[in-house]
Amino acid sequence: MADETGFQLRGSAPERYERYAAPFMAPFVETILDAVDLFPGATVLDVACGTGFAARAAAARVGPAGRVSGADINEGMIRVAAEHAPRMYPDIEFTAAPADTLPYQDAAFDAVVCQQGAQFFPDLAAALAETARVTRPGGRFAATTWAARDRIPYFVAQYEAVKEYGGPQLAANYEGAFSGTADRLTAALRTAGFHDVTSREVTFGIAFPPLAEYTFGQLSSTSWGQAIVDHAGDDALVGAGRAVHAHLADRTASDGSATLPFTANLVTGIR
Ligand SMILES: C[S@@+](CC[C@H](N)C(=O)[O-])C[C@H]1O[C@@H](n2cnc3c(N)ncnc32)[C@H](O)[C@@H]1O
Repeated sequence: MADETGFQLRGSAPERYERYAAPFMAPFVETILDAVDLFPGATVLDVACGTGFAARAAAARVGPAGRVSGADINEGMIRVAAEHAPRMYPDIEFTAAPADTLPYQDAAFDAVVCQQGAQFFPDLAAALAETARVTRPGGRFAATTWAARDRIPYFVAQYEAVKEYGGPQLAANYEGAFSGTADRLTAALRTAGFHDVTSREVTFGIAFPPLAEYTFGQLSSTSWGQAIVDHAGDDALVGAGRAVHAHLADRTASDGSATLPFTANLVTGIR
């Protein structure tokens, strides 16, 4: 079975991630960038950048005098990120690298962000120590992680489908996506040398396209979708996608669309 604990996508899944994660990642991008006080000319790092949602928005904010880098352990994500980066503002430099071994000089960045990545790091302390190393004194860090699964209806529905079609071990691994609690992150940030550490919750109502197609496509763009295919084949993934939709039936409008709340922890610190 694939290693789904680190959210490692393969094949064409990174392209699907770019499409299907966008609806519920995009609003949080603005929140995380607001939290690091970007200014024209700033240098910014997006850690665990995935396909680059935050890096792209950061480039627009820092403008032509700024510099934006994105690092992710997954080469497929980095390839898709580079394909989607607009050739405007500063070019974004995307690099395949693990969060605990970043290929940048000490104090290289005014701001570092990490959107929905920290919960997947095998060694959170090492990753945040490395983040602290590359953040300049006085520079800002912000991370988002999901709040508890049972507070996010889409993920409740997906969890039930993952359990039904992928089995209890995969369901247990799915819980890892919710392991980045505010307490865990704030403690780790202080240990890593950040000060003025804060945390708060942020909730957005996300308007989804018709869920009948979306829930399958989105599941196929996750490590859990890959694991269901490995475990039980392509038909099981189709079934699991339908099951997510069925679990959300009472929240779905007559045209098949839905608006669902997503809550994230926003954790910040100053170097
Ligand atoms: C849910 S995705 C979030 C991606 C992106 N930040 C976004 O906003 O869409 C989690 C990302 O963390 C990356 N990741 C997991 N473990 C990592 C590690 N140890 N170092 C760097 N990136 C990692 C994965 O490859 C994946 O791209």
